[in-house]
Amino acid sequence: MDTDPAALSPATIAVTAGRPPREAGAPVNPAVVLSSTFVSSGVPAPGEPLYARNGTASWDPFERALADLEGSDLPAVVMGSGMAAIDAALSLVPRGGRVVMPRHSYQMSLALAQEQAQDRGWQRDLVDVEDTDQVLDAVRGADGRGPASVLWLESPTNPMLEVADLPALVAGAHEAGALVVVDNTFATPLGQRPLDHGADLVVHSVTKYLAGHSDVVLGALVTTDPRLREHVAHVRTVRGAVPGPWDVWLALRGMRTLALRVERSQASAAVLAARLAEHPAVEQVRHPSLPTDPGHRTALRVLRGFGSVVALRPRGGQDAADALVDAVRLWVPATSLGGVESTLERRRRFPTESATVPADLVRLSVGVEDVEDLWRDLDRALAEVAPT
Ligand SMILES: Cc1ncc(COP(=O)(O)O)c(C=O)c1O
Repeated sequence: MDTDPAALSPATIAVTAGRPPREAGAPVNPAVVLSSTFVSSGVPAPGEPLYARNGTASWDPFERALADLEGSDLPAVVMGSGMAAIDAALSLVPRGGRVVMPRHSYQMSLALAQEQAQDRGWQRDLVDVEDTDQVLDAVRGADGRGPASVLWLESPTNPMLEVADLPALVAGAHEAGALVVVDNTFATPLGQRPLDHGADLVVHSVTKYLAGHSDVVLGALVTTDPRLREHVAHVRTVRGAVPGPWDVWLALRGMRTLALRVERSQASAAVLAARLAEHPAVEQVRHPSLPTDPGHRTALRVLRGFGSVVALRPRGGQDAADALVDAVRLWVPATSLGGVESTLERRRRFPTESATVPADLVRLSVGVEDVEDLWRDLDRALAEVAPT
């Protein structure tokens, strides 16, 4: 049987990648190397372990496994957090350059890009990522400013769940000469593989679905371009945004069940979205599975699966949204997403969240509990808070 990752399905890669060599008596799981320094041979040979901020065997299995999942021959670059990965990716923008970003990207990505634009003398343009023409006009600099240096994509977006036409955007951006970076946190490599469409760099908050148990904060970058890999690995080394060995080991263990978790949670998300769309206490629902959703047709074409995050606006506005988060008993009121447990939060409780996100929007991250239990809790809580 061909065990080359290119011949295997992602569900199999998630289980098999990054294992130690198959030898009698060898452990099935990789070892955790708890050492910050390594015995030196004098003048170090290329690739010789030296110091754990530069690289450690504890990172290798995870980096290989994520690269296999995203479809790269080069190991991923694991980072101390998703934001550290985003910081490394944004460091590619040259002084005087320009970045085009979805206006509903993750709020901290928007904030970091804004800060860096000011500090490093580049521009940040925000676009509606579902409007392909608008995005590509901005990338080309149709207003006379000349082409952007980087097209930053996130799809589906957090928290508005807008879906980008990735193949068209990558092709158009490359034609204009821009580098394409994709935050693939929401879709996961099971939902889309940006590198297959020619994207230059993929960014992950591993904290979310890849690790999957709300117990580590971790990030990663994946590319097929050796120079880009060298650049982001260098940023990791010199800025010190390194992950600890245990966190990387936990993330790889979580990744083993990625397909099971994602299949279960996105199937439940679609069931819940359909029921919520009919619920009398609900004003609006967004989930790409809904035939009426603006992202549905693009999602059918571009994504495998519709994802496990649902955005909902209850009738009664912001007060009803806060009351809903308070009224649930099984769902956990908490930020973040992608864990086995279902969580929810009103996003605009953060003053830093984009003002174009409705104040009453509640983001639901659907976990792997029984969908009927999740529905009963949500349905009861909605009935409790619905205006009479
Ligand atoms: C889409 C997306 N990208 C990046 C991040 C940042 O990742 P981290 O919290 O691991 O730094 C988040 C966090 O919520 C996110 O939702």
